[in-house]
Amino acid sequence: METVGPSRALEGRTALVTGSSRGIGQLVAEALAREGARVFVHGRTEAACAATLARVVAASAGRADHVVLPANLAVGAEVEALADRVTALGGADILYNNAAIMHPWRSQIEDHTLGDWSSSFQVNVFAVMRLCARLIPAMRRRNWGRVINVTSGIRQTPQLAGYGASKAAIDKFTADLAFELEGTGVIVSRLDPGWLRTDMGGHRAPNDPATVLPGALVPVLLSDDAPGGQLFQAQDYAREFLTANSRARVFAQGNFACTALLTAAKSSSAACGLFFSTPMTLPMSFFDCAPVS
Ligand SMILES: NC(=O)c1ccc[n+]([C@@H]2O[C@H](COP(=O)([O-])OP(=O)(O)OC[C@H]3O[C@@H](n4cnc5c(N)ncnc54)[C@H](OP(=O)(O)O)[C@@H]3O)[C@@H](O)[C@H]2O)c1
Repeated sequence: METVGPSRALEGRTALVTGSSRGIGQLVAEALAREGARVFVHGRTEAACAATLARVVAASAGRADHVVLPANLAVGAEVEALADRVTALGGADILYNNAAIMHPWRSQIEDHTLGDWSSSFQVNVFAVMRLCARLIPAMRRRNWGRVINVTSGIRQTPQLAGYGASKAAIDKFTADLAFELEGTGVIVSRLDPGWLRTDMGGHRAPNDPATVLPGALVPVLLSDDAPGGQLFQAQDYAREFLTANSRARVFAQGNFACTALLTAAKSSSAACGLFFSTPMTLPMSFFDCAPVS
């Protein structure tokens, strides 16, 4: 059966994925490289990023211009230095604000510390705001950019209130930024990855980290006329969701609509055909699918 390779939809684009040393960011970085992007891998240390760099290089068939850019986002000066290095390397077309921390579980409000909240806001909000402020102007000058701020579906969890509040701040910031960026070619979106078994999500999470794809790439691959400020739920696009439906329709909010028609498997393997309506096309390779002839 004929198979479909990566679409290379991001050929010529450069992406900074914060927190790509492990977890969700690592998977996103690898997927972006597979689609042709040059990737700036980020984590607190060079050593922590080595495994991702190897995966990114392998995903792009040995391409050698990916770069590791370590920076501790808890330190304001390191955030600025990260932005300086990205700028010196030609800037980023895609800013994937994925890195975040979660403070320890606090049973009662009196157990919360100011440090829980300030560290959550420094890494999860202030660093995001500064990277946007530093890197978006060049995107605007090029009339093209995709900014993805990773949020969370966390609800009714006062024990993690500082973390939850930082994600609420990201939601508000993204909405405001989307308004500012209207018509500029720079589209800012939010991604809720779902609850995944990463270091942060823990072993009780229901979802395999791999299920963040292909959904995590949908806000990167938006057509130029898509609205800003949308929330994408990665689990809506997970393979299990699609394969559970013989005809699955996946709608994103706003006027962006992606219609997936999942046809019946045509061979003993789980091959399927996925056809997407304009304005956006998702590479079939995200689903490891073969086309139906
Ligand atoms: N996992 C879930 O169930 C879940 C659910 C909802 C939302 N999310 C969101 O998804 C995103 C990724 O989560 P994840 O589960 O992949 O987390 P993770 O496995 O804990 O990975 C966190 C990443 O962020 C980096 N990071 C942490 N603190 C940093 C700092 N001070 N400076 C620089 N980098 C730092 C880590 O780099 P180092 O290697 O240097 O530590 C690592 O690459 C986060 O925004 C999280 O809030 C996750």
